[in-house]
Amino acid sequence: MTATKRAAPPDRVARAAAGPDPGSFPADFVWGAATASYQIEGAVAEDGRTPSIWDAFAATPGRVRGGDTGAVACDHYHRYAEDVDLVAGLGLGAYRFSLAWPRICPDSDGRVNAAGLDFYDRLVDALLAQGVTPWATLYHWDLPQVLEERGGWPSRDTVDRFVELTAAAHDRLGDRVHHWITLNEPWCSAFLGYASGLHAPGRTDGDAAVAAAHHLLLAHGRAVEVLRADPQAQVGISVNLYPVVPLDDRPGNLDAARRIDGLQNRWFLDPLLLGSYPADVLEDLGLSASPAWLRDGDLAEISRPLDFLGINYYTRHTVRSGAYPGSAGVEFLDPRGPLAANGWGVEPDGLADILTRITRDYGDVPLVVTENGSAWDDAVDAAGAVEDAERTDYLASHLEACSRAIAAGVPLRGYFAWSLLDNFEWAEGYAVRFGLVHVDYATQKRTTKASGRWYARFVEDHRASILGP
Ligand code: FCB
Repeated sequence: MTATKRAAPPDRVARAAAGPDPGSFPADFVWGAATASYQIEGAVAEDGRTPSIWDAFAATPGRVRGGDTGAVACDHYHRYAEDVDLVAGLGLGAYRFSLAWPRICPDSDGRVNAAGLDFYDRLVDALLAQGVTPWATLYHWDLPQVLEERGGWPSRDTVDRFVELTAAAHDRLGDRVHHWITLNEPWCSAFLGYASGLHAPGRTDGDAAVAAAHHLLLAHGRAVEVLRADPQAQVGISVNLYPVVPLDDRPGNLDAARRIDGLQNRWFLDPLLLGSYPADVLEDLGLSASPAWLRDGDLAEISRPLDFLGINYYTRHTVRSGAYPGSAGVEFLDPRGPLAANGWGVEPDGLADILTRITRDYGDVPLVVTENGSAWDDAVDAAGAVEDAERTDYLASHLEACSRAIAAGVPLRGYFAWSLLDNFEWAEGYAVRFGLVHVDYATQKRTTKASGRWYARFVEDHRASILGP
């Protein structure tokens, strides 16, 4: 790490009484915030970048709320230095960002675009100059459109293209980036992208989605192999996990919970951590033990040891057996507790449940919460402040859940808030704000919210609990 230059400490703000004792987190616990390339960068046609599936999807009428696109987003491509200052100003030790594949391998023909990598070079240097450790995600959903046109994730060829991306990124950045996340939320890429069609590329083909999920996992395994050649690399993957709760213990409802837990959680955790697909889900999907997309040796590649498992947690699902078309006999029920502005239930106990469950069912792989956060209807008030008490409460209660899991013996090593900035929230466009920092999209002015100041204070108190004030 190069010289540490920290911005002025955040304003002193009272911490909500509900937050955990900062001293209950291990001394080397990693505190960070996360973003993703398409959600913040903009500059979609600069320095050789080609369109991604999200450019194409957002350009299709009716796909994204309000017709929003990532064409400008937070203009982070040009404002990254200011955004790195924000990370440092919050006192965070780590920043998770993703690499835009269409900047690095724009045509996916083996050619690496040096100008695209230059951007990440600058970003990484800016982070290190402020003492912030970069955590790079190789794929956060922005597949080059040219690859979708050649078959996308349902095609096994995409796995080889991902290996090329991994090697290109590591060749350029691996001397300074030591924390790598292969994929973000392969469930979303596969099932929202290819089955429900709610995300890019917007296909609705269940068989294609299951093949896509497998190829994503295989791409992960092959990327782990590439990165393992670097003894300094710490490698993980981020999966989105949800505890699935049956409405009650009637057999039909218990089975509904088993099915959804199987597809949402175990379909990814079992191959990654146990080297097998869950037999009950194979049966639910009507697949034989050896589906066409599964080749000898794949599961051994997928289950290569990880340095950490990244968990993205937002809420939990309550289900019962139902029968509406396309539901596979399962109905999702509205959350019973408080709701965030985007309708997601605020369920901090679910985070403690999922963390302890991983350790119980899959052993002591180190865990990192690589995303956690909530959306609220934030606005800048007359005094120029954003008073987002609900987000502070959400953060405090979820950190409390982390603290409880650690006390129960879970090897939790870090926490990344989603998100550093308000940004392009996929199919919801700019209507949904998750940031610790407010973005005025008309002026690109950034305003750190009260929750951001609270988090900064919490992190500072953690540091003080180790070093003394
Ligand atoms: C996760 C995504 C992230 C963001 C949050 C709210 O599923 O990984 O990009 O959209 O949800």
